[in-house]
Amino acid sequence: MSQTIATAPGKIILFGEHAVVYNRPAIAAPVTQLRATARIEDMREPGVRLCAPDLNREYWLADARDDDPFARAVLALAQTAGLTEWPALKITVSSSIPMASGLGSGAAMAAAVIRALAFHLGLDNLAADEAVADLTYQVEKLLHGTPSGIDNTVVAYEKPVYFIRQRPKNQIETLKVARPCHLLMADTGIYSITKDVVGDVRRQWQSDTERFERIFDNCGRAAESARQSMELGEIDRLGKLMTQNQRYLEEMTVSSPELERLVEAAQTAGALGAKLSGAGRGGNMIALVREDREELVRLALLRAGAQDVFKSVLT
Ligand code: PMV
Repeated sequence: MSQTIATAPGKIILFGEHAVVYNRPAIAAPVTQLRATARIEDMREPGVRLCAPDLNREYWLADARDDDPFARAVLALAQTAGLTEWPALKITVSSSIPMASGLGSGAAMAAAVIRALAFHLGLDNLAADEAVADLTYQVEKLLHGTPSGIDNTVVAYEKPVYFIRQRPKNQIETLKVARPCHLLMADTGIYSITKDVVGDVRRQWQSDTERFERIFDNCGRAAESARQSMELGEIDRLGKLMTQNQRYLEEMTVSSPELERLVEAAQTAGALGAKLSGAGRGGNMIALVREDREELVRLALLRAGAQDVFKSVLT
């Protein structure tokens, strides 16, 4: 009985969330120590068994609901591969990425399942980064409406990316980081549904287009400057740009008192910059810190109500 394992990382959005949906540039990076894992095993019993032990769930693919993200990932691969008959398989997913927290847990789960299945079935062309990103996007689209494509890209490529949503093909450039960036991610512990927040921003954009276009432009400019700063190793400037981006997100009304308390605490404890990351209204914030300040900022974040603080170094 053979078995195949693939994993995909969590992600943070460093610059340009929301504005990226409206075709402005954004920067995202993988969080390699938080991962989703998919394991595929051949079975004797016919059928495809889906197992998610973290959620205490086990069921047949044939019984899955239409909006089941696990099944959608499996079916996205099957459709593209033109698979009509399934071998008997057990697919197990597990993840250390907190859910609904702006860390890309859904995209990572889909990417891990798609890559593991592609390898297991000998469809190596569909296990390549670009194919995994495209298939993961299909899953995101079914479940989230109008995703920009940045989440699926960064979890599939597993590199910091500068991303612009555009047709017919998104602009995707992997970024070279001149100096390691030490980041702390602090979880508000508040679940936030990306689709709802993105929908709310759309409604506001529709009723006040000019103002929102201006905010999106500002986010786009911050992302462009941040890209330069990362490539030149200008860490202080990068921090300032993060805090600036946080102000634009506040103007969009996607921040929250809990996120702002964490941003404030990080800065008071000496972070170079801080902002929410992802859809907002909950989930995680990120702070850029000098290594020698890391512990101080971590403790300040916990005192300010963070449920958890993770470390990540961008290189
Ligand atoms: O909440 P997350 O981590 O899925 O991030 C959403 C990022 C948005 O820019 C708000 C939406 C998108 O599709 O890019």
